Amino acid sequence: MRIHVHRTERGIATALADRLADALRVTPGLVLGLPTGRTPVQWYREIARRVEHGQLDLSRITTFNLDEFIGLAPDHPGSYRQFMERHLFAHAGIPPERINFLRGDAPDVEAECARYECSIAEAGGIDLMVLGIGRNGHIGFNEPGAELYARSHRATLTHDTRRSNAELFGGSVDAVPREALSMGMATILQSRAIVLVATGRSKAAVVQAMRRGRITTQLPASFLQLHADVDVYVDDGAGG
Ligand code: F6R
Repeated sequence: MRIHVHRTERGIATALADRLADALRVTPGLVLGLPTGRTPVQWYREIARRVEHGQLDLSRITTFNLDEFIGLAPDHPGSYRQFMERHLFAHAGIPPERINFLRGDAPDVEAECARYECSIAEAGGIDLMVLGIGRNGHIGFNEPGAELYARSHRATLTHDTRRSNAELFGGSVDAVPREALSMGMATILQSRAIVLVATGRSKAAVVQAMRRGRITTQLPASFLQLHADVDVYVDDGAGG
């Protein structure tokens, strides 16, 4: 894993937008895996700014988001689909038919997960997967446990994860769904390149364990040690 330390979140956002621009120069039809959460917001803002100024063209990319809450339709204000709409999709010029999402309101969850895996395969796999990390070491909604899932699956969220998402539901932890759909570990690890971003002191310990500790299902991000092309971007807080 290569580590990139930046003084500020702003510095990370700029570096990541540069990285995306470089990747697009090589592959204009890039297949991009995307996270939600607090961490990518500044990066999304920087992408939107560059698109608006004609410095970045996302009209040929395909996106796959990592996860979605079970039970929420794509137009639910708390859904990750709406989060992406607000922070990126409404400003990025990505053709809607190239935006892919797990449907939280799918009547048949298994079929929905299988459909998503097929779509990723049909797109030729993910070129660049961008990840955040939970304080407990989750990536996507692959939560710590005795076992992990290889492929897209139904996931039970930990209380801490639900608390981190309460803001999307008017601050109420109880309103955060208990389950989600998430890409699996193999889906993530088969991406050609992976970028993980972590900011703030509360992520310092988990970043250290992910990079230097043993590979364990109790810290799903530790499996990234097995991938040959991982860049970790941290600010001073998470790097310290
Ligand atoms: C969200 C996701 C999660 C977040 C993680 C960090 O799509 O996949 O793994 O990346 O929970 O969230 P923040 O950035 O809010 O600290």
